[in-house]
Amino acid sequence: MANEEENTGNVKRELEKVFDLALKATVRNETDVRPLIAACTAKFGDYQCNNAMGLWSKIKGKGTEFKGPQPVGQAIMKNLPPSEMIESCSVAGPGFVNVVLSKNWMAKNIQKMLVDGIETWAPKLRVKKAVVDFSSPNIAKEMHVGHLRSTIIGDSLARMLEFSNVEVLRRNHVGDWGTQFGMLIEYLFEKFPNSEDANETAIGELQEFYRRSKNRFDSDPAFKERAQQAVVRLQSGEPKYHEAWAQICEISRKEFDKVYKRLRVDLEEKGESFYNPYIPGVIDELSKQGLVEESQGARVIFIEGVNIPLIIVKSDGGFNYASTDLAALWYRLNEEKAEWIIYVTDVGQQLHFDMVFSAAKRAGWLSADDSTYPKASHVGFGLVLGEDGKRLRTRFSEVVRLVDLLDEAKNRSKAVLIERGKDKEWTEEELEQTAEAVGYGAAKYFDLKNNRLTNYTFSFDQMLNDKGNTAVYLLYAHARICSIIRKSGKDIEELKKTGSLVLDHADERALGLHLLHFSEVIEEALTNLLPNVVCEYLYNLSEYFTRFYSNCQVVGSAEETSRLLLCEATATVMRKCFHLLGIVPVYKI
Ligand code: ARG
Repeated sequence: MANEEENTGNVKRELEKVFDLALKATVRNETDVRPLIAACTAKFGDYQCNNAMGLWSKIKGKGTEFKGPQPVGQAIMKNLPPSEMIESCSVAGPGFVNVVLSKNWMAKNIQKMLVDGIETWAPKLRVKKAVVDFSSPNIAKEMHVGHLRSTIIGDSLARMLEFSNVEVLRRNHVGDWGTQFGMLIEYLFEKFPNSEDANETAIGELQEFYRRSKNRFDSDPAFKERAQQAVVRLQSGEPKYHEAWAQICEISRKEFDKVYKRLRVDLEEKGESFYNPYIPGVIDELSKQGLVEESQGARVIFIEGVNIPLIIVKSDGGFNYASTDLAALWYRLNEEKAEWIIYVTDVGQQLHFDMVFSAAKRAGWLSADDSTYPKASHVGFGLVLGEDGKRLRTRFSEVVRLVDLLDEAKNRSKAVLIERGKDKEWTEEELEQTAEAVGYGAAKYFDLKNNRLTNYTFSFDQMLNDKGNTAVYLLYAHARICSIIRKSGKDIEELKKTGSLVLDHADERALGLHLLHFSEVIEEALTNLLPNVVCEYLYNLSEYFTRFYSNCQVVGSAEETSRLLLCEATATVMRKCFHLLGIVPVYKI
């Protein structure tokens, strides 16, 4: 078999290649038959090929020699070319072809990954460049838990794409434009006639500043008039107004950065204002295509199946959220040449994005069929609830300050480490770093582990529990594996080259099989944009490891070398999962 696309890390893809040949040999006249391979939990095999039934219904009316789906399955099995991957096959039920993988091949593959690096197990995607639009808080307004979710989920998706060798533009689409800036600027002028005085400390909480300027706006008609003028002067680029605007943005940005720094999330800001100059041209293009209609003084695009139209120019001639998103989409496709554009926001914005994407499809910007590129995807998520079952709030304010929330997670994990005497054992720096890794990691994992569409209840106690499906448990599990290897006194880098890995014990084999699922699991997580799939995989990996470690002696056994290699492979895969979830691994506990 030609090896142009060597992909040994992805068992499913490798089996597809072998079964593709078998299928072609079985039904010569049927083109367009794609192998359907799935990992299986049945005891007859590790994977199965599910083509027989579908093929049977395709060919039964066409004078085939086969008498039913079962014989089709038998024939597929008989036509399999020899492959070192496969130990044995059997046909079950109405034609499922079960495959038992060769444990030698499995062991060889895992060892190859240890030598060549886990990057060789990265999924291979058809897309080269993607935009992930995430976090995206609004200037002068609070960055709330919804933005935190977007930051955590978006970062994880970006990491998975980057791991798969996709160039990712990590876009912070901050809300930095709009009529509210008129009142903010006017209030700034009023409070600080001397612009140098208007710094962070003087202004204090921007949210409070926003509230006060809004009060002025609502209660004083003269102020309101000036604020409206200010919007016009800002938009026409008057320097004084532009500077005040930039000043306000800068203060917000510093607040946002505190969160990003803690979470170690990279983002490149291209706010709404950036796309402003592109809006008229884009609306022009859409109009020329006949997509834009007049409705109650506004200019709109009607979308099939939706009652309300997408407003792209308001009746007062101003642009809105949708005009900006259309311009941003145009820019990302045409100027940045991205093929996949992913937006991470709460599910409440689903309709907005559906409509924007539909308009873009009508305009021919996006492929009409979502299975081909260029495409756009909305990644929606549910709410974070407080323990009272309502939207998360604190006693003191309407919203929880994200920085406080993250610091609390870190401080609590630090307190636990101190309770365990780690402050005496470790340097201050080690203590600090571990507390951060565990605390922030716990908050991230707690968010990522459920299907993103479900709401979850925020609980420090639960996220920091060292038992169960939490980052704390998993980080400890990883550290324990590292300590097994350390305590063996063996040079693991040397063993990778000289030792050999075998999977003779049933629990070694089960662990090995799960390791080999890694690549296809990441691919699945990316296809459906579901980070929880990675969490589930990681948690199961620790379970398989525990079973192996309880039943197979590692250090001091005859199989020590092989088993140390299996430990190292598990730790390597765990670390990559942590990395993809944005969690920093710890090596000692
Ligand atoms: N700023 C928006 C909000 O806070 C999110 C922006 C999402 N991205 C976009 N391209 N519309 O809800």
